[in-house]
Amino acid sequence: MANVIIVGMQWGDEGKGKIVDLLCPAFDGVVRYQGGHNAGHTVKFRDRHFSLRLIPSGILHAEMACFMGNGMVIAPDAFLEELDQLAASGVQVAGRLFVSNRAHVLFPLHAALDRAREEARGSHRIGTTSRGIGPAYASKASRYGLRICDLTAPDLADHLDNLRSRAEVELAGLGAPSLAALGADTGVEQCRDWAERLAPHLCDTEQLLNAWIAGGRALLFEGAQGTLLDLDHGTYPYVTSSSSTAGGACTGTGVPPTSIDGAIGVLKAYTTRVGGGPFPAELTDARGDFLRQRGNEFGTVTGRPRRCGWLDTVVARYAQLLNGIDTVALTKLDVLDDFDEIPVCVAYRLDGKQLRDLPPDRHCLETAEPVLRTFKGWKRSTAGILEEADLPPAARDYIDFIEQELNAPVTMVSTGPRREETLLRDHPALHRLTSGHLGRVVEQR
Ligand code: IMP
Repeated sequence: MANVIIVGMQWGDEGKGKIVDLLCPAFDGVVRYQGGHNAGHTVKFRDRHFSLRLIPSGILHAEMACFMGNGMVIAPDAFLEELDQLAASGVQVAGRLFVSNRAHVLFPLHAALDRAREEARGSHRIGTTSRGIGPAYASKASRYGLRICDLTAPDLADHLDNLRSRAEVELAGLGAPSLAALGADTGVEQCRDWAERLAPHLCDTEQLLNAWIAGGRALLFEGAQGTLLDLDHGTYPYVTSSSSTAGGACTGTGVPPTSIDGAIGVLKAYTTRVGGGPFPAELTDARGDFLRQRGNEFGTVTGRPRRCGWLDTVVARYAQLLNGIDTVALTKLDVLDDFDEIPVCVAYRLDGKQLRDLPPDRHCLETAEPVLRTFKGWKRSTAGILEEADLPPAARDYIDFIEQELNAPVTMVSTGPRREETLLRDHPALHRLTSGHLGRVVEQR
């Protein structure tokens, strides 16, 4: 049985949620390994809309187990709210939603710090989701964070005092109001309350996940955000604070690399990013506006308009390299249906030189000009096409080019938000990664 990592190959919002949902019939469990409620899926399921930020959307499949790994930062209030939402809709989670007791707690004070830090950055603000993700990971790395298992520790009050006093010092230094004034203080009682409600879901997920793998079950590890937002490999400092690349799946779950069988990359047919930071292929003209409207590119967590641009294969090749992508799911191809011409950024021009590889330096990325290769538009609707033979030849050329650039097959092409709007290729890579259950995926599409 294949254990597979699925990651975004750009700056997030590639449409991973839909691809995970589609592939669920070939897996026994979905596992999140990093991030927190900065991620967001709005999932339509049996005519109901669910807004899930922490709990994997696989939970909407009755047979599916969902895991939240030790690499996550979990805001208990947000988690409990999602549980209530699921319960109100009759989704049973008992016995199939497992949360790592080693995951770190994201407290309201982390969100207060996130906002104050952003405010202080002025024009250099990262444009975070203001959920407290960076400060929660900072507490973890500084080794005074609290894990979920610590919510019942006998010396909890001391830990909370420590966390609180550090936050107060920083807030005062940034000229922000105190935690009490911000309503961001957390007491022992609140923690005990959270612990009680979380308890039915807590376990040593590393033990359970490894036992599942040993028992021959197939797991899908779902990366949140995207490769270019990875703390180490992304466009630092305009990144999130976790390891969103495939490597994070091991540290964030306790499942060893030797148990992972492959990786699927989700690539949007053009590029978007939310918040600040370099974006060489960005379009600031009417074509960017068109992509935004047509692609409905507005953040699911914050509602912010996403910045839009052409596909950038410098970015995609880098993602291929870092994640070892076996196959690509190309999403939102239909958004390009009306263009006469579709440029792709294939390199960057910098100081008279052409760069094929992503430079680490923020200033280089900010001044790099895109080297564009222009493709003919297909000017025909691709929405809902299920057979390769039905794709317009120009769309086929576009996909062929992506395959050549990435040296990986595109085996899934999404042309609309619904599950049934996905072309699935009968390809050995997809058979292998779905443990021979591609038929089930096609059937439930
Ligand atoms: P943070 O994760 O809230 O600290 O935000 C850091 C950067 O990552 C900002 O540019 C956010 O817009 C971006 N970001 C965080 N989560 C997501 C996501 O799920 N999709 C797209 N961008 C995200």
